[in-house]
Amino acid sequence: MPGKLHPLPLTMPLVPLTILGIETSCDETAAAVVRGVAPGPGEILSNIVFSQTEAHAPYGGVVPEIASRAHLEILDSVIGRALDEAGLTLAGLDGIAATAGPGLIGGVMVGLTTAKALALAAGKPLIAVNHLMGHAFTARLTHGVAFPFLLLLVSGGHCQLLGVGGVNDFRLYGSTIDDAVGEAFDKTAKILGLPYPGGPAVEAAAAHGNPKAFDLPRPLVSGHNARKSADFSFSGLKTALRQLAQTQSVGVADASASFQAAVVDILCDRTRIAMGLFREDFADALPAATPATLVVAGGVASNQAIGAALGALARRENFVTRIPPPRLCTDNAAMIAWAGLERLATGAAADALDVAPRARWPLASL
Ligand code: KG4
Ligand code: ZN
Repeated sequence: MPGKLHPLPLTMPLVPLTILGIETSCDETAAAVVRGVAPGPGEILSNIVFSQTEAHAPYGGVVPEIASRAHLEILDSVIGRALDEAGLTLAGLDGIAATAGPGLIGGVMVGLTTAKALALAAGKPLIAVNHLMGHAFTARLTHGVAFPFLLLLVSGGHCQLLGVGGVNDFRLYGSTIDDAVGEAFDKTAKILGLPYPGGPAVEAAAAHGNPKAFDLPRPLVSGHNARKSADFSFSGLKTALRQLAQTQSVGVADASASFQAAVVDILCDRTRIAMGLFREDFADALPAATPATLVVAGGVASNQAIGAALGALARRENFVTRIPPPRLCTDNAAMIAWAGLERLATGAAADALDVAPRARWPLASL
């Protein structure tokens, strides 16, 4: 006679994983150790970020050759510090995660190759992480945000709105048809004679300026020329600012404030459209009256004016906003370790040691 049947557990056992993360896709050399259970929040045992800003500042932007050489010189010691601060050796890890793209290929190769060597030497699983997935899941590391959520990803290389339904479920609602929003901040800073990186400099200058001083364009936003999609465009805004700066003497504070106000309007308008698309897409999981979650991630998410405006929009649209703290919005390795943890926690196999670095790797392709 068969005995009484025990119900199968509905979830995987809640065993915390401890992961080393390595990030070298742009101008930050970073290593971190995180521990936790998906969906988070997790614990950051160490988070070392060595910024190469000074090395690139004279050129007004990141120079790929300088970046990869600097990663190569410092990465070993950054990893050593991350393990020391976490009080661990390689033996205490459950896996080693590294950014495998998208990004500057020389830098990605340095980080990924180092991770492969460590994984091989220590006999630990290698997890090749998509950098954008790192930004996307940071709000799970910090706030334990549940799936599904709407993601506004705003960084130096990307500007996208995505519905995130699971670890491998990304649905693209809109992306930029020209510049990324962080790039627009960086170029604006250059036009106005502000230092690199431009985002924090423009935000600081804007705090003392009049956002209505100059009437700058809001490309693709409601009004004439309006598009019903959630796509972004920033190049017209940048060109208008350049022309303005060439034809009249503009105050840096007023120009910064006017530029930032235009960016805020563009981001809010596109996000509002994506909120509708997200509600339709996930209608089964999220009945109409249930609050949904808007996650804002990437370097530009550390901008306080943008965060405040999106927070107000979210309240009007029955969304809750989750924005990680600034040091986890800009590039770091804690987010890479956490994305690796999420992948391992799904039971996914480790990546092969010949996994290739990628300069391009859209999230929606996952
Ligand atoms: O995510 P991130 O560190 O690197 C990329 O993956 O691109 O983002 C860097 C970008 C830069 O363009 C920088 O100017 C922008 O984020 N940024 C900001 C702020 N802090 C960084 N933009 C606006 N306001 C800020 N406070
Ligand atoms: Zn980034």
